[in-house]
Amino acid sequence: MDCERRHALRTLGALAAALVVKPAAAQSPALLARPIPATGELLPAIGLGTWQVFDAGGDAAARAPLREVLRTFFAGGGRMVDSSPMYGASESVVGDLCAELAICEPLFVATKVWTSGRDEGVRQMETSIKRLRVEKMDLMQVHNLVDVATHTRTLADWKAKGRVRYIGITHYTSSAYAEVEKWLKTGQYDFLQINYSLAERESEQRLLPLARERKVAVIANRPFAEGAMFRRVRGKSLPEWAKEAGIASWAQYFLKWIVSHPAVTCAIPGTGRPEHMADNLAAGMGPFPDPSMRKRMAEHFDSL
Ligand SMILES: NC(=O)c1ccc[n+]([C@@H]2O[C@H](COP(=O)([O-])OP(=O)(O)OC[C@H]3O[C@@H](n4cnc5c(N)ncnc54)[C@H](OP(=O)(O)O)[C@@H]3O)[C@@H](O)[C@H]2O)c1
Repeated sequence: MDCERRHALRTLGALAAALVVKPAAAQSPALLARPIPATGELLPAIGLGTWQVFDAGGDAAARAPLREVLRTFFAGGGRMVDSSPMYGASESVVGDLCAELAICEPLFVATKVWTSGRDEGVRQMETSIKRLRVEKMDLMQVHNLVDVATHTRTLADWKAKGRVRYIGITHYTSSAYAEVEKWLKTGQYDFLQINYSLAERESEQRLLPLARERKVAVIANRPFAEGAMFRRVRGKSLPEWAKEAGIASWAQYFLKWIVSHPAVTCAIPGTGRPEHMADNLAAGMGPFPDPSMRKRMAEHFDSL
């Protein structure tokens, strides 16, 4: 199916306004999906990050569990995969494995430009498209605002020409939020990717409300603070009230808290383990915490 037809079908799907995505395996429960504000297209709320874990090079043994992560992700209704030329061989590994699994086109593939200068940016983005084996990129983001003025001009041009479907900016630390806010306010972006978790909540002060007001989709990166949150809860049981609310693991506790924020479109936990992928996907299935439950979850996390 060509990209235009794929896009038309996605838009039609969005108009149906159902906030669930049917997983590939018909018997699995549906995954929460959120509309991308710019178009209404639905995006499953649990995505997949590829930093470090997918930098496996050509080693077959190292690639084997990653193939299973992608298979589990896709079969469970996952669609959004995030990469970057900064992540070593991750783009190539994702592209190769998705080609083997024949899932490159149905995925929502996001990557980044992470270099300086117009020509170098164009060269890097062309390479990413080849490595990820897509006809056009679903989402191209300026990584950590590197040479953002230059790349934003290129990306606006590429979007107008249909080479990318959405454009965005990313960052991962609160020290950059003032600069992120400045660029977000220019109104040029469909997506903001920013760190947001129970351990890193600062973006909910200004950036998340601003994104919501400006109708910009939000991707929450570092949802487990790069794994540090699991070290914090090691050896500690989930509270009974969380289990009663349908939370079966700490990963689900952390992710359900993130995706139930009204500004968040999806979270992108990174994992190289299929069983963790399944656990993370389960966080995208209901029920979800309401504001008072989110408050209780945050207070409990702070007490640990
Ligand atoms: N500036 C930027 O644009 C930027 C910056 C940072 C991150 N990102 C994006 O955000 C993604 C996520 O951030 P991150 O990878 O740094 O960190 P993260 O997702 O917060 O944490 C990843 C760690 O959590 C572990 N994990 C995942 N699922 C688990 C589960 N169910 N149970 C127990 N442990 C689990 C992983 O280990 P296992 O492999 O063993 O599961 C890994 O060590 C990145 O991969 C990248 O795509 C973007």
